[in-house]
Amino acid sequence: MKRVSLILAASVAVTATAVLAAPPGPMGPPPGPPPPYQLRPVEPAGDRTKPGGDGRTLFEVHCGYCHLNGGMGTNLLTKQRLMVGETPDKGLLANRTDLTADYVKAVVRMGKGAMPAQTRVDLTDAELDAVSKYLGKAG
Ligand code: HEC
Repeated sequence: MKRVSLILAASVAVTATAVLAAPPGPMGPPPGPPPPYQLRPVEPAGDRTKPGGDGRTLFEVHCGYCHLNGGMGTNLLTKQRLMVGETPDKGLLANRTDLTADYVKAVVRMGKGAMPAQTRVDLTDAELDAVSKYLGKAG
């Protein structure tokens, strides 16, 4: 038993060293600062259940890691928009003019395809109201 755990500990140490020692590039983290989609705004202070929040900021905070530039939602939606003959900038939800607030709410609470449903912990109902008003340019 002792020998097994020694071997386990040794192999964990070797793996950890290999990961830490990986050079930048294909085998390790890319060089330079993180991509811009990770630089999203800080969560606004205050009661998250109060209405009247800024939809754009709340969208960037709660949806931005997938729906700003470089996010996986943007990548997938860009492909979908190109397939229906639109321009690539329509991959960003903020540039869409065909979304309604009700549609945004339904997708957020139920999920859609590769997008996981967002709970009231991820985004409160008041926050979702503000975000869907911001994105729902079709009414
Ligand atoms: C974990 C990543 C992720 C998060 C977080 C996320 N989304 Fe998405 N979203 C996606 C992906 C991926 C798709 C495309 C789904 C598909 O078609 O398979 C999508 C699709 C959508 C669509 C549908 C667009 C269309 O053309 O039908 C809406 C609306 C949307 N997201 C809104 C939001 C909002 C608002 C938030 C924040 C509350 C959010 N999403 C958070 C990944 C995400």
